[in-house]
Amino acid sequence: PAQPRVFSGIQPTADSFHLGNYLGAVRHWVALQETHDAFYCVVDLHAITAGHDPRVLAQRSRVAAAQLLAAGLDPERCTLFVQSQVPEHAQLAWVLGCLTGFGEAGRMTQFKDKSQKQGNERASVGLFTYPILQAADILLYQADAVPVGEDQRQHLELSRDLAQRFNTRFGSTFTVPAAHIVKDTAKITDLQDPTAKMSKSSSSPAGIVLFLEDAARSVKKIRSAVTDTGREIVFDVQQKPGVSNLLTIYSALSGRSIDDLVGAYAGKGYGDLKKDLGEVVRDFVTPIQDRTRGYLDDPAQLDKLLAAGAQKAQAVAAPTLQAVYERVGF
Ligand code: ADP
Ligand code: NA
Repeated sequence: PAQPRVFSGIQPTADSFHLGNYLGAVRHWVALQETHDAFYCVVDLHAITAGHDPRVLAQRSRVAAAQLLAAGLDPERCTLFVQSQVPEHAQLAWVLGCLTGFGEAGRMTQFKDKSQKQGNERASVGLFTYPILQAADILLYQADAVPVGEDQRQHLELSRDLAQRFNTRFGSTFTVPAAHIVKDTAKITDLQDPTAKMSKSSSSPAGIVLFLEDAARSVKKIRSAVTDTGREIVFDVQQKPGVSNLLTIYSALSGRSIDDLVGAYAGKGYGDLKKDLGEVVRDFVTPIQDRTRGYLDDPAQLDKLLAAGAQKAQAVAAPTLQAVYERVGF
């Protein structure tokens, strides 16, 4: 039997992924390509919703794709492509937008948060309809499952509602996607503010470990991570968020369980843990950086690979859109 289909996307909004992106998303993509018919998309249409620099957008998409490949995505095992190369995304989003209530879209909490940050008058309509484009991304591929974190649950709910609404109104067309809950999703926190999530929009660069920065810099960041009072290395997210975050990263990158690590560091200090984790991080990012550079050194080849991905994607997206257009009455 065919593998269940999964869809996921990531924005090319920064020059480098951070450890949170990898541990919270990308490594699960790598695993899912073995068990699923996986469609992974660099969502550059989404990346223009909040202002962007046109001179770097295309290159950022390449850098994002190169990092995904370097982290283990295999074009033989999954379909990796750039969203703007498959125009059906925008076309389906229009149809779905016409099925979405204005009030319904207005209840999306992520828009409320993001638009407030930008000043409500300045926020674009594209930012407002972002979750509708996301629904189009997913539904075009008839995805059975979507790996989602807590922050994306409401958007997936909208995708499900829109799929059901379309099916009811126009005839069965879309698979209704389910949330794919990834077990042991590591929520990685900021090294300088261990109660906040590690994020590219964090105020302190010292709080974020970037895939593509000089590994010596990453090592330094780990060494100067904010730890907690006391000196015992225990896993306690409430009382010791800093040390717990380091243990989470360590465990995820090394494959050793937290309990095993806590046992191994009994009687040792924070400095020992940070020193060793620095080495683990260095050993982890160095080959990924080398492979990323390899892809970026040959942009023609990378573009070819992405064009092939877009063609594979379109082979699925185009028939979906055609069915939609027919049922809508075009
Ligand atoms: P950022 O918060 O840096 O803007 P995005 O929102 O673009 O990151 O997230 C891209 C993907 O990486 C999402 O799947 C998200 O859940 C995951 N992710 C981002 N930050 C973290 C984190 N600190 N811990 C775990 N997963 C994360
Ligand atoms: Na696969």
